[in-house]
Amino acid sequence: MQHLMSGITHKKLKQRETDVGLDVIEVDNQFCNAVIAVQGAQVLHYQQKHKAPVLWLSEAHRFQPTKAVRGGIPICFPWFGGHPTQPDLPSHGFARNRLWQLQDVTVQDDEHLLLFQLDSSDETYALWPHHFQATLQVRLGAQLQLTFSVLNKDQHAFDFSFALHSYFNIQDIHQTQVRGLLNTPFLDQLNPEKGDQQCEAQPISFTAEMDRIYQQAQGSYQIVSPLEAPIHIESTGCSSVVVWNPWAEKSARLGDIATGAWQNMLCVECGCVAAATVSLAAGQRIEYQMAAFRD
Ligand code: BG6
Repeated sequence: MQHLMSGITHKKLKQRETDVGLDVIEVDNQFCNAVIAVQGAQVLHYQQKHKAPVLWLSEAHRFQPTKAVRGGIPICFPWFGGHPTQPDLPSHGFARNRLWQLQDVTVQDDEHLLLFQLDSSDETYALWPHHFQATLQVRLGAQLQLTFSVLNKDQHAFDFSFALHSYFNIQDIHQTQVRGLLNTPFLDQLNPEKGDQQCEAQPISFTAEMDRIYQQAQGSYQIVSPLEAPIHIESTGCSSVVVWNPWAEKSARLGDIATGAWQNMLCVECGCVAAATVSLAAGQRIEYQMAAFRD
């Protein structure tokens, strides 16, 4: 175990069954505690002091190198979902499966800031023929704040899509609603042939598997339930929001969610996906933000 600075520990999280280690950074300060995996720069846990955890992490997940952990906030980049033309390429891109570099750790106003970086390499070029640098700044205070940026180091423009695939921790999906997406058009990924649909004028509630991409989203959402304090989500620059719960049957198929645990998770994923794919000119850098916290 290595101490990086006050309130921060770098250690190996033991894989439960096969003992393969995953490098994680643990943070504990006056506002919160958090765990971030270096693989994928994936926030696995964030909890404000004296409040319930904001993020859900599957108890059934087996930690494996090059496989994203089910839960927390995997980063989908440089594509979202299946690759548009090569279905054999990894779902949700490769950023969540690769080791990022921890570049910097600082403290500002007693909050910890961690900066992770992922640079293109021969290996990423074989999957996606572009030169890029992606960074994720993780700010750990009374809110969890993520700033994701992409720099185009090519001589020409490239297209990418991305999502901060956040798994939120909820008490019961049947009693949970999402607010902030009224009258926002969505694509139902379970029935894509229906095309864009207009959301009904009421908060989203859940009675079956849901997998929707909302576009032209306004950036402020709340996960509410009579059972617990609301979770607030604020995003900047992210015009898409994916709302996903796999329900019982798909959870069983995925194989890394314990029986019944889908009732305690809800993904509200801010990003730019599908029709909102980003075109980034040579030499340009673009930045997106997302914050989450419990009342
Ligand atoms: C969601 C997608 O973002 O991620 C779903 O909308 C998908 O369609 C889910 O099933 C999980 O994907 P994965 O690759 O992590 O199992």
